[in-house]
Amino acid sequence: MTSNDKKIKIGLLGVGTVGTGVVKVLTNHPVLEIKKIGARDLNKKRDAVIKKELLTSDLKSIINDPEIEVIVEMLGGLNPSRELVIEAIKNKKHIVTANKDLIATHGAELFDLARENNVQIQFEASVCGGIPIINTLKQTLNANRFSKIMGILNGTTNYILSEMLNRGISYEQCLKEAQDKGYAEPDPTNDISGKDSAYKLSILASIAFGERIKINDVYNEGIEKITPNDIAISEDLGYRIKLVGIAKKEEDKIDIRVHPAFIKKTSTLASVFGANNGVLIEGNLIGELTLIGAGAGEFPTASSVAGDLNMLVAHITSAKGPNPQFVCKHTHYAKIKPISETTNSYFVRLRTDDKAGVVGQVGTIFGKHEVSINTLTQRGSNPDSSASITILTHLVKEEKLQAAIKEIEKSNIVKQVENVIRVFE
Ligand code: HSE
Repeated sequence: MTSNDKKIKIGLLGVGTVGTGVVKVLTNHPVLEIKKIGARDLNKKRDAVIKKELLTSDLKSIINDPEIEVIVEMLGGLNPSRELVIEAIKNKKHIVTANKDLIATHGAELFDLARENNVQIQFEASVCGGIPIINTLKQTLNANRFSKIMGILNGTTNYILSEMLNRGISYEQCLKEAQDKGYAEPDPTNDISGKDSAYKLSILASIAFGERIKINDVYNEGIEKITPNDIAISEDLGYRIKLVGIAKKEEDKIDIRVHPAFIKKTSTLASVFGANNGVLIEGNLIGELTLIGAGAGEFPTASSVAGDLNMLVAHITSAKGPNPQFVCKHTHYAKIKPISETTNSYFVRLRTDDKAGVVGQVGTIFGKHEVSINTLTQRGSNPDSSASITILTHLVKEEKLQAAIKEIEKSNIVKQVENVIRVFE
């Protein structure tokens, strides 16, 4: 699309945390223009980026606006979201939604209707905020046959369990803190009970296994009964307690459930801490793959919404030429920073004579080249009566470190610079 072409107009339903993030991300978008923003309360204090003239409390005026091609639904819950999305689809508008309750509960009805009306529903933001799990399953990994989806799908409960582990404090105290910090919803019932995870898991399993799943068939059990004692014992046994959603394909049935579980401390999902989410996928071609990241929040979730919008833009504009997401759009070459200009910490291992003054001379050369030493250790005498000196430096430009190494090599202080390895902090 050229700058002279008309922009694609979109309407937003809901402008809470995620909606505000979407408005910020779409500012100055080359192709998309927000025409209307639906809010239930026009007088609520809002971020300055929300232009007052775009706001309306008449949500139906957005879905009935003939100029608007895409509706972004961020109201959450089922009412009035379901009714509005249905009407928008009947009005031939594409849908982008962050609403897991809606997709998990009414997905079958909405997808059938979208097919009949030849429009798309994109819902990357509905599961695990910023983690690109839906389109990864639907597109990138679509050559796989999936056998398992397992995940930590709720940030609130993962935060609570992480804090109970780190500080040995009670479930009730952690929940209160999660609410005070704004991680948990004011009514955290669905988070705590595992229902929020069940919504997300049913969406993922449905895509992975290619079958519809009724949300009420998904067993869910919450974390209310977990005590600091359970957590301490699980750690002693080599496990960690997490609220886990698991869906496995077993012959003609799907085993799908959400409940607290002991998982091995050494497993990747056991390292998902705080409000983060993690999803493990098992496919016949990729084996196991785990995605870990922010499962909620303004910008991570807006990233998924905006990504879906850009995909829709590509779909809409590809009617006029090649799909813009599948063509190379740039022709210039990037400027690459030479390794000598990079900044790193370094591990340096030297073999030296085991005699007085060596460490001092090494330190003097490093200091001359502005390489600051973090730790220096001499590890005993070697069989040939030489000594191993290992040094960890603070951050320093590569060219300074290399100049110091060159001077050390040229001097007769050390027998050999045995290794230099960059350290990522
Ligand atoms: N309440 C959810 C959680 C975030 O705690 O993970 C939105 O799905």
